[in-house]
Amino acid sequence: MTLPATMRAVEISEPGGPEVLRPTERPVPVPRAGEVLIRLAYAGVNRPDALQRAGSYAPPPQASDLPGLEGAGEVAALGEGVSGLRVGDRVCALLPGGGYADYVATPAAHALPVPDGLGLKEAACLPETFFTVWSNVFMRGGLTAGERFLVHGGSSGIGTTAIQLASVFGARVFATAGNPTKCAACRDLGAERAIDYSSEDFVEILRAEGGADLILDMVGGDYLPRNVRALADDGRLVQIAFLQGPKVALNFAQVMMRRLTITGSTLRPQSDLAKARIADELRERVWPLLASGRIAPVVDSEFDLTQAALAHARMEQSAHVGKIVLKIA
Ligand SMILES: NC(=O)c1ccc[n+]([C@@H]2O[C@H](COP(=O)([O-])OP(=O)(O)OC[C@H]3O[C@@H](n4cnc5c(N)ncnc54)[C@H](OP(=O)(O)O)[C@@H]3O)[C@@H](O)[C@H]2O)c1
Repeated sequence: MTLPATMRAVEISEPGGPEVLRPTERPVPVPRAGEVLIRLAYAGVNRPDALQRAGSYAPPPQASDLPGLEGAGEVAALGEGVSGLRVGDRVCALLPGGGYADYVATPAAHALPVPDGLGLKEAACLPETFFTVWSNVFMRGGLTAGERFLVHGGSSGIGTTAIQLASVFGARVFATAGNPTKCAACRDLGAERAIDYSSEDFVEILRAEGGADLILDMVGGDYLPRNVRALADDGRLVQIAFLQGPKVALNFAQVMMRRLTITGSTLRPQSDLAKARIADELRERVWPLLASGRIAPVVDSEFDLTQAALAHARMEQSAHVGKIVLKIA
């Protein structure tokens, strides 16, 4: 494959609203040892991209300053020492950044095959949410069959992934969402009970069921004490974001008296090795479920790469259900 010297990309011209996303031209990245260069067909849009654009989520050292944490396309070049992948292979990959572009370099160990039966558009929507949900709900949170699992933001990219994975692995799934349409989507994906938080109290509903064994939360703020009340004894709370803020008064005696665990993580700053371990588990335990059609990414809408600002605006209006994707090629 002959590679051009430069490529199209969308950059964050300054911290701000969606309008600061600007088309630009950049050099095509050169894959380092252990990396692959991917010619992207699609890139997924994630809430962390919007946080980075607003100036509140800086990329880690050595990562591209361009937004974009996931994508799918064809392997265009291999860095030194890469085995197991060939130029022309169709892959989807977790990216350290740089996905809003024609080409991106990422560790080869973070690339996974496009599951049988899925197109590149659907595959581009997988890595960020599947790595995040698998590592937080199953590896960190230890969810097992029969447990009661509550996910907030059930209609989000993360939520639609968490509902499906928890259901398919045998958990009883409860999800919160902000309106009846989003609640219906949560039920269609496998939630036994969708809770419309504009009119219902998730604490009451979970307590009536005996409490949640595991909660995946991205909201924070006053959800923190409410989550603690909604947990069963020995329950676990896994925090992956704080859309309503990280600071709150909390009575930690409850944590002690009821043997609760409060934990959390962010994916992006973790080591390449930690992400490779998540990729290995996904390949073995989850990719066959995608190939058999038992679970599938939920695609809300598609925008051209040059319309990335519109894609961010849609995400921030919170009207979407599932994933927003950028078409690159
Ligand atoms: N820790 C990690 O490694 C990691 C990785 C990826 C994503 N995340 C986080 O996970 C969350 C979901 O990501 P995503 O890409 O799936 O985003 P998304 O699709 O935009 O979902 C955000 C959801 O949060 C709900 N929400 C509740 N309170 C909100 C508030 N105050 N402001 C905005 N939305 C609110 C919205 O649903 P309603 O309209 O029903 O309220 C919306 O569906 C984000 O906070 C993201 O930063 C964390």
